[in-house]
Amino acid sequence: MVNIKIVAGSTRPDRFNIQPATWIYNLAKARTDIHAELLDLIEINLPLLDEAAPPSLGKYTHEYTKKWSVAVKEADGFIFVTPEYNHSTSAALKNAIDYLFEEWNYKPVSFVSYGSLAGGSRAVEHLRGIAAEIKMYDLREQIMLPNYWEHLNDKGQYTFTDQQAKSAQAMLESLVFWAIRMKEAREALQSK
Ligand SMILES: Cc1cc2nc3c(=O)[nH]c(=O)nc-3n(C[C@H](O)[C@H](O)[C@H](O)COP(=O)(O)O)c2cc1C
Repeated sequence: MVNIKIVAGSTRPDRFNIQPATWIYNLAKARTDIHAELLDLIEINLPLLDEAAPPSLGKYTHEYTKKWSVAVKEADGFIFVTPEYNHSTSAALKNAIDYLFEEWNYKPVSFVSYGSLAGGSRAVEHLRGIAAEIKMYDLREQIMLPNYWEHLNDKGQYTFTDQQAKSAQAMLESLVFWAIRMKEAREALQSK
């Protein structure tokens, strides 16, 4: 079993984010090779980064940073569920990433994004650059939901297709593959 954490990256009231985040969380949770957990940034409730020391030193002073550190450290891989705000990811997700460093290192990450015609892909392209700096391995597999508002029913619920579920399984498969191998590599590196 690998420990995969899904980060819900929007903190807006009535956000769409929680729908794709819950969808991918349920698909991950249903698998026998994944222990899944949903990290909702509304509940994590981090203020704008206010630690004095750079995160690479791991000298955390606030309880919320220490708690966030533990939550991220115990994961073997991640799925960032991101909105696209002004052609990038949300400030909330970037802020949550910036809080930590080593906790992200040598772990795979994939993405679920949504938005207008580009399906949030510009936010994901920025996240890929960020992932490199925090020594994560960003997977090619990702899910995009373009013009998601065209697929909402009268209750505001998104209808996920079988094709999207199939793509999600391919993404989870790849995430498990790399999470296992990177866990081994990470433990070898960090025991030195
Ligand atoms: C500040 C802001 C900027 C936005 N910029 C973009 C954008 O660049 N590209 C896009 O596809 N949608 C953009 N949108 C529309 C979002 O895709 C849409 O509001 C979506 O519901 C936001 O995700 P959330 O509801 O989970 O917060 C923007 C929305 C906001 C609030």
